[in-house]
Amino acid sequence: MGTNWARAWSASLYGPGGFYVSGPGADQGPAGHFRTSVHVGAAFHRAVARLLLQVDAELARPEQLDLVDVGAGRGELVTGVLHELPAEMASRVRPLCLDVRSRPRGLSDVIEWHDGVAPQSLAAVRPLGVVGLMVAQEWLDDVPCDVVEIDAQGRPRLVLVEDDGREVLGPALDDGAGCATYDVDADAIQGWLQRWWPVALPGARAEVGLPRDGAWAGLTAQLRAGTVVAIDYGHIRSGRLAGRYDAGTLSAYASGRQVDAVPDGRCDITAHVAMDACAAAGRVGSDAVTLTRQRDALSELGVRGTLPPREQAVVDPAAYADALQCASQGAELRDRAGLGAFWWLRVDRAAALTAAAAPTGWSGPGPGPSSPAGPGPGPAPGPAPRPGAAPPP
Ligand SMILES: C[S@@+](CC[C@H](N)C(=O)[O-])C[C@H]1O[C@@H](n2cnc3c(N)ncnc32)[C@H](O)[C@@H]1O
Repeated sequence: MGTNWARAWSASLYGPGGFYVSGPGADQGPAGHFRTSVHVGAAFHRAVARLLLQVDAELARPEQLDLVDVGAGRGELVTGVLHELPAEMASRVRPLCLDVRSRPRGLSDVIEWHDGVAPQSLAAVRPLGVVGLMVAQEWLDDVPCDVVEIDAQGRPRLVLVEDDGREVLGPALDDGAGCATYDVDADAIQGWLQRWWPVALPGARAEVGLPRDGAWAGLTAQLRAGTVVAIDYGHIRSGRLAGRYDAGTLSAYASGRQVDAVPDGRCDITAHVAMDACAAAGRVGSDAVTLTRQRDALSELGVRGTLPPREQAVVDPAAYADALQCASQGAELRDRAGLGAFWWLRVDRAAALTAAAAPTGWSGPGPGPSSPAGPGPGPAPGPAPRPGAAPPP
């Protein structure tokens, strides 16, 4: 008879035999299954390095500057950013990768790796909070959540799923006791849907972003001073109200291809993130919170898709080749129909909080890895990017 999506998804990614624990995602890392901005190359790493430089200046060059990658995959982002930093700064940076996967073989010794379920896992290694920059690149879309569908009578019902991916409609959300048998708080879901995604038409679906809101709030609570950015594919209320996402966005990836969402540990299950809901949940006091498209965020950080002048090829061929590569990467990263449509949810916190606040509203997707999972032979060639090409809001 199946179970609710949040539970099935969680077990499928993080439970024993889960995709990221001992399944294909543990062997090859995310890069073996899909392409994110991080894998595009140096143009992205340079942009994040520039952002880190800005954060450093804002914080008046602290003796120790944190650089934290949340859901780090194989540590490609931190590795790339360190490569782009001036030597003086690199010596002050404390690079830290968080992931449910265990430390990838070959990662530089200067990079600290902590395996466990973020955001809670962060408190163990930065108990006083983070001073610097945190980046969560395609992390929130992995955080498991429940799916609701409107039935033929117009009632929102919990969607249940079998191990083989077949779905059936479960209890209605006004059946609190029925939902509670799946450990689902029907009132909380109804409140969230009403505020953020009021689906109404029979057949319309919604992924309930409450666990993502909690995960983001739990992460931002641990920023003492500096900046935290979530980069992901997602949507905002205007697009949801217009019905653009009524079919739901639950999807899955494996070996470079989009596949059916089957919670069997063989694929990475994902859904677009309700970015505005996360933004509201993660705001503390006088934070500056901004939500922009990647193409605009990267423009501000100097990423362009324009070709270098041809004369440079004669004067400085190496610089020309580098600029050419950056232009091509810049074009991919800013593509309106692809990665450029991703959202950057950014929180800037100027004043240090007295102590890191405890993560709120987030109980985690599961117990984390139960067995060490070393990296395999390396990424499969040419995985496809995941769907940045969401319709505009
Ligand atoms: C979609 S991949 C993105 C990896 C990397 N940021 C990139 O852009 O290539 C998501 C990563 O987050 C990790 N992850 C997912 N949920 C997590 C959690 N709650 N805590 C820590 N890591 C998590 C997965 O193991 C995976 O490596």
